Amino acid sequence: MRVFKGEVTALPPDKSISHRAALIGALSEGTTEITNFSGGYDNQSTLGVLQAAGIALRQETEAGKYGRQIRKVVIESQGLWSFQPPSAPLMCNNSGSTMRMFAGILAAQPFTSELIGDNSLMKRPMKRVADPLRLMGADVELSVSGAAPIKIKGTKDLMPIEYRLPVHSAQVKSLVAFAALHAEGETRIIETVPSRDHTEVMLGLETLVNGLDRIIVVPGRKRIVAKPFFIPADPSAACFIVALGLLARGSEIIIRDVCLNPTRAAFLDILNVAGAGISIENKRIIGGESIGDILVQNNAGLDSLLISDPQLVACVIDEIPMLAVLSAFATGQFELHNAAELRTKESDRIDALVVNLQRLGFDCEQYPDGFIVKGRKITHSNTVVIDSFDDHRIAMSFAIASQATGVAIDITDINVVGVSFPNFFEMIESLSV
Ligand code: S3P
Repeated sequence: MRVFKGEVTALPPDKSISHRAALIGALSEGTTEITNFSGGYDNQSTLGVLQAAGIALRQETEAGKYGRQIRKVVIESQGLWSFQPPSAPLMCNNSGSTMRMFAGILAAQPFTSELIGDNSLMKRPMKRVADPLRLMGADVELSVSGAAPIKIKGTKDLMPIEYRLPVHSAQVKSLVAFAALHAEGETRIIETVPSRDHTEVMLGLETLVNGLDRIIVVPGRKRIVAKPFFIPADPSAACFIVALGLLARGSEIIIRDVCLNPTRAAFLDILNVAGAGISIENKRIIGGESIGDILVQNNAGLDSLLISDPQLVACVIDEIPMLAVLSAFATGQFELHNAAELRTKESDRIDALVVNLQRLGFDCEQYPDGFIVKGRKITHSNTVVIDSFDDHRIAMSFAIASQATGVAIDITDINVVGVSFPNFFEMIESLSV
């Protein structure tokens, strides 16, 4: 059995904040310097579409903390309307965030553009993108199944709207906010289940609370002056290392400078309620985001997890695959409700988790908005083939369980981990003692 010990100083920079920093940089007047930008494929896709739409940017490396070389992105822009008509469809690869959030910006540009992606992205729902943009006055066309390609005939005359989010989605909230920055007048976006709030924080938008509604106020024709951004480490990547530390006997790992925004780090609370004993050190605020070090030690006494509160589901939506696999391996049990959105991610994650857990001998049952793991019937001694479904978080969740417990698995298309965590296996090896 392997033991994992040490200090993690090279976790990928946060994917959500990296996307937003690049998009906001392209909307700002002046030079935006983004320190510690992510090298993950998804974030590189955002830079690719920005360049294809005429935004000048460059990537450099510079000396960072802990003696590491870090990535810096420099964007030069003249503000809201600096984009140029792309000469070909804009390729977003696997990145839903790139496609959806950039659609909000393209809807406000006075030209026609088209967004496309890989096989997985071309199947994901985009009606949630088209609906608010059409209400604002853009002409948006989707495939017959309501997916990409997204063809956008933008307009400089977008109208402000009051928009109650029909899905609990930070991507939809953000694309409406990015479009609304260009509109003539104030837009109000209303959410009843708060999702990650990086867009509001980074743009300095006013938020109001009215009963159960959280209202984000977006002033129209807002001039954005370039400012520097620093990207903290990604809590969704940290979750994999936390699970490794909890599962592998005798392990002790400290993960430095992780974003601890409450809309992102709720998995730590869930795990601590289950007895994980994870502690946070060196907590501070940088660029409006709470950041700290996570200390995790192997804990043989973890209770099984039940996740059903919609507010909580929204705050751990990307961590559910790892939490489910961790709970299954640590306790034999797991239960999830109110998470139908998981079926619309890079894969249908409810199905992907259940299929693979069943292959490993777990007794599972799925329903429309979740699934339950009721125990393990068989423990395999032979290698089990795990289907990644070309989904980085599915691949990494099972890889962690295998590395920590020694169960032999073979994962299809393992290179997909590079979507968000290019140094995933290197990091695991560096912690192995
Ligand atoms: C993201 C929001 C979430 C998340 C995705 C990134 C973001 O999606 O699953 O990985 O950066 O806004 P939804 O907003 O669609 O729930």
